[in-house]
Amino acid sequence: MNLQAEAGKQSRRKFLVNSVGILAAGSMGQLPLKVEARAAGESREAASRKSEAAGASSAHRIIIDTDPGVDDAIAILLALRSPELKVEAVTPVAGNVPLDFTLPNAMKLLELAGRSDIPVAAGARSPLVRTLVTAKYVHGNNGLGGVELPAPKMRPVNETAPELIRRIVRASPGEISIVAVGPLTNVALALRADPGLAQMIRSIVVMGGSLSGGNITPAAEFNFYVDPEAARIVFDSGVPLTMVGLDVTNKALVRQEHLKILDSVKTPVCDFAAKILRATMARWSKDGGQTVALHDPLTVASMIDPEILKLRDYYVLIETLGEASAGQSIGYSSGPVRRSPPMETGPAAESPESKESFRPNAKVAVEVDPDRFFRLLLARLTKEA
Ligand code: BDR
Ligand code: CA
Repeated sequence: MNLQAEAGKQSRRKFLVNSVGILAAGSMGQLPLKVEARAAGESREAASRKSEAAGASSAHRIIIDTDPGVDDAIAILLALRSPELKVEAVTPVAGNVPLDFTLPNAMKLLELAGRSDIPVAAGARSPLVRTLVTAKYVHGNNGLGGVELPAPKMRPVNETAPELIRRIVRASPGEISIVAVGPLTNVALALRADPGLAQMIRSIVVMGGSLSGGNITPAAEFNFYVDPEAARIVFDSGVPLTMVGLDVTNKALVRQEHLKILDSVKTPVCDFAAKILRATMARWSKDGGQTVALHDPLTVASMIDPEILKLRDYYVLIETLGEASAGQSIGYSSGPVRRSPPMETGPAAESPESKESFRPNAKVAVEVDPDRFFRLLLARLTKEA
């Protein structure tokens, strides 16, 4: 059945209701939120909570810290098109590509989404203490898979990313969450410059890390590998943390059938999303161009619909000393939190066993419902703005 032709025949909403469960992903975005949520398999109560959350006053206020980045771009568009979230600022950082690209990319994406009212502040050009390593081999030289968007008309604000993060959080203590989907340099700089800040941040939801091996080294996931010291600062900060790592994001694989749904809706956002994902599949895929993992969009989606992920408490220690393991995230599900024994040649040290009782520092995503994620993502990308 041709989606466009069929949509022309019926009233749009009737068509969409009838289509849920078949072509569900592309259509659900047109449904009222409560219907959409229920179609995704939620309980009535959860759907009604989500409906309430959609009210402007109760939307979850977030800052997106990001290194766009193909999957970052999709994550930003998802957040901007989701009424459960209110994007207060976007703070680009160097990561997938240098800041000279991630900064304009963030502004281009906001303009594509018609949201140039959202402030963008330039972040760190390099990690705290290390040389920048990029992932151009995945995201292309421009970070957007080589797909060009018009040069942005908007300008960054006259503050740095850490300054903007601090100002927004301090103005609304306990209300702002940071969704960090790039190396954690900006967030660490803000925390380091302002020791009182940690207590005022509602939560930090991090795309990064893994309890089951890395993607840039056998040990480390890319965002933590690029700036392990920053990740360490964030995980030691005491802010309520959620770690959405490769354990789940590697299961959120976009496929051709998803791209066809984007193709069927002729809007600039769907067109752009389909193009950058196809370009990335062609450049980088472990299965001959068939799939790409949507790390950052899954992270944003989990804030819109928490039932997409199952979380478990862990104490996550970020390795910073290893010659081949820096950036590794080591998860303790119970105590004692043992560190490596002191070296005989080194200074006298305490026993490696922590005497403190076990205290988790993060909720780690351990299971994902990929179908539920794609229904949400495609519904939001294909809906009318
Ligand atoms: C992470 O690294 C980047 O390449 C992606 O944008 C994502 O944030 C996955 O390891
Ligand atoms: Ca990213």
